[in-house]
Amino acid sequence: MAKLSRRQFIALGVGGAGIAIVGNWLHQKTISSQPILKSSTNPTPVYQSSKGLLELDLEASEHLVDLAGQPASLLTYNGQIPAPRLEAKPGDKVRIHFTNNLQQPTNIHYHGLHIPITGNADNVFLIIKPGKKLTYEFQIPASHPSGTFWYHPHLHGLVAEQLFGGLAGLFIVRGELDENSVLQAAQEEFLVLQDFSIDRQGRRSDSAHMSLMMGREGNVITVNGQVNPSIAIPEGGLLRLRILNASPSRFYRLALEDHSFYQIATDGNSLSEPIEVAELLLTPGQRADVLVKGDQESGQYRLLNLPYDRGSMGMMGGGMMGRNNRDEPITLATVNYESAVDSLALPIKLAPISALPETQTVRLFELNHGMSPAMGMAFLINGEPYSHDVIHTQVKLNTIEDWELINTGVMDHPFHIHGNAFQVISRNGQPESLLAWRDTVLVKRGEIVRIRIPFRDFAGNTVYHCHVLDHEDLGMMGNLLIEA
Ligand code: C2O
Ligand code: CU
Repeated sequence: MAKLSRRQFIALGVGGAGIAIVGNWLHQKTISSQPILKSSTNPTPVYQSSKGLLELDLEASEHLVDLAGQPASLLTYNGQIPAPRLEAKPGDKVRIHFTNNLQQPTNIHYHGLHIPITGNADNVFLIIKPGKKLTYEFQIPASHPSGTFWYHPHLHGLVAEQLFGGLAGLFIVRGELDENSVLQAAQEEFLVLQDFSIDRQGRRSDSAHMSLMMGREGNVITVNGQVNPSIAIPEGGLLRLRILNASPSRFYRLALEDHSFYQIATDGNSLSEPIEVAELLLTPGQRADVLVKGDQESGQYRLLNLPYDRGSMGMMGGGMMGRNNRDEPITLATVNYESAVDSLALPIKLAPISALPETQTVRLFELNHGMSPAMGMAFLINGEPYSHDVIHTQVKLNTIEDWELINTGVMDHPFHIHGNAFQVISRNGQPESLLAWRDTVLVKRGEIVRIRIPFRDFAGNTVYHCHVLDHEDLGMMGNLLIEA
């Protein structure tokens, strides 16, 4: 694992983490888009496209960051936790001048974006070595849905470690849903959920083998890089939260005291109308956009993370593995009522969704773990761990398929497919009532989930995998060839 030597660490520590952060601000180079700060409670810099182009410099490097009042040596994009938020519109060009100043190879995946999976676009087979640069360049299709997407490293074997170091940021596509007048009047906030494991010296701690099997979780949970930040809600108005689980393994089961969530998007993609939910389960990789009504008594309300049991390696640890923090709700943020606004009702209609037509093609994917001759204990799809050299699944461009995801293991696995969103058709044979687009779906232990996926626009090689990223790194991934 890349770490600062003690000497470098002390040198950086002089002057405090604040200077390191500010210094990075001043270093934004000559590129057209300048970051802007939009919210006083959320310090994340934002880069927006202008005149059809989003262009910026992005550097991955180890950096001292103020985490819960302590300097912590994290892996960052542009020195920021979370990474800068990128915002573009359908039809825009994106050009990211990327420099890898980590001590490991890396690359970038644009999670949820429907863009080319080859070349210098959403290509997870690129390898950018330490000290090297690469310009990512792609166009967001004019027909691209609006939504909450994100970017993070995707070099197989290092994904969990690099995300756990902090490398993750939002990629927002502003479009149809954002033109809804009610949503425009709502107060918009972004919540990037990340957990970290930091020792007293501010170093990232190594994960033990067992916690890798379970999927690493950290004891410092942050929202936009802060511990328990405050979020303003306008009295009488609506708060629009766009929430990303950017943790490598931790599931979040969110609830806001005395308030319901009105979900308007799944994995960034608009629902046809808001649905009321008391709590929101977000697996790693998933996003949810929700509205909260500011209709309670003025005051403070805790945004809680409720316990969730995602299973464990029972036969190895007697069911005790990874059970820390399972039993108590944790406060993630505090929602504060602020001055009243003209009262705002929920929107009735959002963007329409049509169901995909039925298909004859059904493929089975069995998710489990087991012994692999090459790797020892490994995570498997259809009995095989990931191999770079094998095409595990070959499909044809412009076709629709049903995939049946069968979890025969003892842990939950959130299944993610690159490049194309899908619809959930049924769970354990029960038809799914909510028509929605997703790119990551939870397959609980013992569960069978059927999804329907259209392979549109872009041919090439890409992957599908479990988004508990230790499971992905330990083999629960497959290569997907979309043939033109
Ligand atoms: Cu967010 Cu292949 O992952
Ligand atoms: Cu998994």
